[in-house]
Amino acid sequence: MHKKLFVPGPIEVADDVLQAMSTPMIYHRTKDASALQEEIAEGMKKVMQTKNTILFSTSSGTGLMEGSIRSCTAKRAIVFSVGAFGKRWYEIAVGNGIPADIYTAPSGEAITPEIVEQYLSTGKYDVMTMTHNETSTGIMNPVDDLSKVWKKYPDVIVLMDTVSSMGGVSIKTDELGVDVCLTSSQKALGLPPGLAICSVSPKAIERARQVKNRGYYFDLLELYKYVAEKEPYNQYPSTPTLSHYYALKHQLKKILEKEGLENRFKRHLEMAEYTRNWAKKYFELYPKKESWCSVTLTTISNTRGLSVKGLNEELGKRGFMISNGYGDLKEKTFRIAHMGDFTVKDIQEVTSLIEEIWNLK
Ligand SMILES: Cc1ncc(COP(=O)(O)O)c(C=O)c1O
Repeated sequence: MHKKLFVPGPIEVADDVLQAMSTPMIYHRTKDASALQEEIAEGMKKVMQTKNTILFSTSSGTGLMEGSIRSCTAKRAIVFSVGAFGKRWYEIAVGNGIPADIYTAPSGEAITPEIVEQYLSTGKYDVMTMTHNETSTGIMNPVDDLSKVWKKYPDVIVLMDTVSSMGGVSIKTDELGVDVCLTSSQKALGLPPGLAICSVSPKAIERARQVKNRGYYFDLLELYKYVAEKEPYNQYPSTPTLSHYYALKHQLKKILEKEGLENRFKRHLEMAEYTRNWAKKYFELYPKKESWCSVTLTTISNTRGLSVKGLNEELGKRGFMISNGYGDLKEKTFRIAHMGDFTVKDIQEVTSLIEEIWNLK
């Protein structure tokens, strides 16, 4: 039996998107492939609210995390972390021999402007990483406020992970001064996993030109050259996941023309508000402030000490799945994802099942 996925990725994918993915193959060194790549890049610019160049990577999002920190760090990177995926930036830096430091926020808290100021004002760093939406803790960093600080340091390249929020939340990439904004296909964009997408600013590209060992597969400069500098343009150094491109082309039409971006963002907010209110009725929200709560998933503190594993087994029998807490937060928290093509009705379906299974009153 297929389990309806209320986990924060991979999420449910609509049948018509899966069908678009099975479009007959084309040769990737053709004008048709360039045109397809250009068309979906233009669509992604709208979703990401950017004029910067869009690059696609045939990988999951982690590939572009590695590619961006490796391609853009000439001096030293500072990683601002609020959970496991923040920490991943640091682990990638260490694994690649890139000088880096990490600041980890106290449990349940977001990054503050004071912390960003404290680190950037040292002048030690030429790259900073930010997790917009931390999937392990359900914390969404207040990037509007934080960006006011990092914009004061134009020599610092800003890399932002929007893996679990892009497409579900309005993220004004250019207004925020984000140099590399990256995301994955299997979250709020509503596609299967396997495609990563980023925007790159001219500043990030200039920096990459000064960095010697940028790796190979995820070298942002090499990807950029094929897309924007070398004829016939909008090509990629290696064979891309064309099937995902077809799915994205189809999904972008639905997002931009059928539903409309603003409606999509509103729908996500409605689902988030419904889930938070439900959570507060029976439990507590994990983030210490409601303004730090993610719009695409809700992390709930298991204040009743119930078995999350047991819950998921019971949900499974009914064709549903939610997420246990991540890492150390297992059984202490549980997570309900509300992203992609879900509506409040879908979320109500799973929360009423949870009420029934756990006998919540
Ligand atoms: C916030 C965040 N960053 C990065 C990643 C890694 O992305 P991927 O699994 O696409 O490599 C994830 C995956 O869940 C994530 O949620």
